[in-house]
Amino acid sequence: MPKKQVAIMGATGAAGLEFIHTLQDHPWFEIVALYASERNRGKTLEEACRLSLEGVHQDIRNLQLRDVNDISASYDLICSALPSEVARDLEERCAVHTPVVSTTSAFRYEEDVPLIIPEINGETIEKVRQQQANRNWKGWVLPGPNCTTVGLVLSLAPLAQLRRIESVIMTSYQAVSGGGAELLDLWRTQGTMPQYRGDQAISPDTHIARGDPFFALNENVIGYISGEEQKVRKETAKILAHLQKGFKIDCSCVRVPVEVGHFETVFAETLEPISPEELVGFYETFNDRSRREFGFLPSSPSSCIHVLQRSPQPRLDAYLDGGMAAIVGRIETSEAYTCGLKWQVLSNNLQRGAAKGVIQVAEYALTRDLL
Ligand SMILES: NC(=O)c1ccc[n+]([C@@H]2O[C@H](COP(=O)([O-])OP(=O)(O)OC[C@H]3O[C@@H](n4cnc5c(N)ncnc54)[C@H](OP(=O)(O)O)[C@@H]3O)[C@@H](O)[C@H]2O)c1
Repeated sequence: MPKKQVAIMGATGAAGLEFIHTLQDHPWFEIVALYASERNRGKTLEEACRLSLEGVHQDIRNLQLRDVNDISASYDLICSALPSEVARDLEERCAVHTPVVSTTSAFRYEEDVPLIIPEINGETIEKVRQQQANRNWKGWVLPGPNCTTVGLVLSLAPLAQLRRIESVIMTSYQAVSGGGAELLDLWRTQGTMPQYRGDQAISPDTHIARGDPFFALNENVIGYISGEEQKVRKETAKILAHLQKGFKIDCSCVRVPVEVGHFETVFAETLEPISPEELVGFYETFNDRSRREFGFLPSSPSSCIHVLQRSPQPRLDAYLDGGMAAIVGRIETSEAYTCGLKWQVLSNNLQRGAAKGVIQVAEYALTRDLL
């Protein structure tokens, strides 16, 4: 089978670069064009990209960037890693003629747009046929979930198959790369920050606007990520809708000085009791089924969920199993609930949480004759 020809929009960004890493040696897909903003038109990837290109092949580094506004219909697949504000219009323009997989939120919440993690709700991919009919598109759009939703739903879906869930509370400790190339740049150049030792009242808005170092990313914790909590709530409900509806979910999303890997603590209250051992046993059943049904896709992990006897850690575990697994640890009963469990989970925000996750969906689409 000749390889499918792929273009990447947003190739100079954090998620775009991960598309490049995933696709440059891919057995089914081949990168033929890179697109970025108008300001980088004509520069090579090497000249324009401010992120490290370690591991990127020289022929890809030498590709000349095109202006995303000139995107044409000459590809088999388009990968989008644009800011959501510009993605809506551009992804729609592309989908009229070409299938699009996307890391952006532009289409995530539309009724006829499935939000797919193959191992959880792969069968919802058939909805794209309806999407094509509704919108009179030859192509389609398949976005991936937000990077923070991914670890939560992968660790939660097996529990949703075992017990009725009453409520879920999650707190995230999110990596700087989740905020894109500019935030990574800022973090790297900030260096070590002084400790604030004053006792005057702090007004965050004033201090952030002033660029006050006490609101730096480095050696700090930023307890607010715009729009993130709302996305996690909506997307978790959408992805698990075929298993359960109506459970309460809340979360608190926090940025921490870590380069890659979103760490989360999860508390899940169930209607009936469940032990950590039963959930761990069912994770294995879930892994076996995932392997049987999706293990042949080039981007699938060998085990979708890895259970550790210790707490997962970004530095140690973010790239485990090709960055495509949810790494779960400290599964314990909770003093707060009569029935329910708590655990910690880590997932790679750039791989399963962005580019490689949606490439796995494109691989699945190809096997279903949708590409
Ligand atoms: N980072 C993650 O972990 C992650 C995870 C899941 C989802 N996402 C989503 O993926 C998308 C990309 O995120 P990112 O972190 O990769 O962002 P990023 O590092 O800021 O990269 C943005 C890319 O879009 C291009 N771009 C920016 N403004 C543009 C404009 N006005 N017109 C055309 N192109 C423009 C940039 O090109 P130039 O270099 O030419 O400016 C760059 O290639 C976002 O929607 C984000 O929410 C990110």
